[in-house]
Amino acid sequence: MKLSPLTLGEKIIKLPIFQGGMAVRVSLAPLAAAVANCGGAGTIAGTGMSPQELTDEIRKGRSLTQGVLGVNVLFAVNNFTELVKAAIHEKIDFVVSGAGFSRDMFIWGKEANVPIIPIVSSAKLARISEKLGASAVVVEGKEAGGHLGTDRPLMEILPEVRSAVKIPVIAAGGIIDAQGIAEALRLGADGVQLATRFVLSEECTVSENFKNYYLQAKKEDVVLIKSPVGLPGRALKNPFTELMSKEEIGIESCDGCLKVCNQDFCILDALRRAEKGDTERGLIFSGENIYKINEILSVRDIFKNLISGLDKIKE
Ligand SMILES: Cc1cc2nc3c(=O)[nH]c(=O)nc-3n(C[C@H](O)[C@H](O)[C@H](O)COP(=O)(O)O)c2cc1C
Repeated sequence: MKLSPLTLGEKIIKLPIFQGGMAVRVSLAPLAAAVANCGGAGTIAGTGMSPQELTDEIRKGRSLTQGVLGVNVLFAVNNFTELVKAAIHEKIDFVVSGAGFSRDMFIWGKEANVPIIPIVSSAKLARISEKLGASAVVVEGKEAGGHLGTDRPLMEILPEVRSAVKIPVIAAGGIIDAQGIAEALRLGADGVQLATRFVLSEECTVSENFKNYYLQAKKEDVVLIKSPVGLPGRALKNPFTELMSKEEIGIESCDGCLKVCNQDFCILDALRRAEKGDTERGLIFSGENIYKINEILSVRDIFKNLISGLDKIKE
């Protein structure tokens, strides 16, 4: 099987394998640029950054690649507008909005000729996105890491989304190998988005502790948590998630970073702690299939394995 190039705005993604945006600071310029250098689409996660930090990260990414670079911002953060506008100002190749979207962002994208791609988990939201001006949609199933918009498997929702819209559909959630990509292509996807697989890459800048925690994860370690933004999230079991299930964590200080927050705990602080290597008190987001990945590879080798695997699969 072969991946066909995907045109997004003025850019052509030679191999439409998107690296999913991962906050806080899990997918930064080095990872995104490495993916872009392989012909895929790299994504810098803007959530948890200031607009200036995001601008600097985009510039760093541009200095590392001529390839296709995007930005992901969670709709739930208060500085969503400022972050998206900072990315558009830097002439980013695409913007992905996670866990929600607004009518305005499609207008900003249209004015600046920057493709806007919401993450959706139903045919209904895909249809609304297309009407509002989305250039593509990422359809995410329950296997994904981070915040979840559904409890249904990707391969069940994908055909529904495919028949609901004409814009490109990018499939996300639980894809870690060529088999997963082939299945998504058969169900009509124009591209795929992988996140968990790329955490276990040499170019991902998270701490060694974070990567080791991923490497040791077993199937039963992948759990669902209740995020203060009001959505479920997929993460790895650790002392922090244990406390969370007993509702024994509170909030020490709050800078009002989220539009809506139930203040059970500070999610951005918890994600920051994980990124820095505190696997006891940090929140370690992960996709469902983490336990099937057992080695850290260079992004180039991840791409090589995916593409050679696809070559061996019949149409
Ligand atoms: C550590 C981690 C952090 C994530 N952070 C975000 C995020 O900030 N915004 C977002 O839209 N999705 C986020 N996601 C979801 C991914 O972008 C992606 O769509 C999903 O994880 C794909 O499933 P996979 O991890 O099984 O490949 C995150 C996923 C992980 C594993």
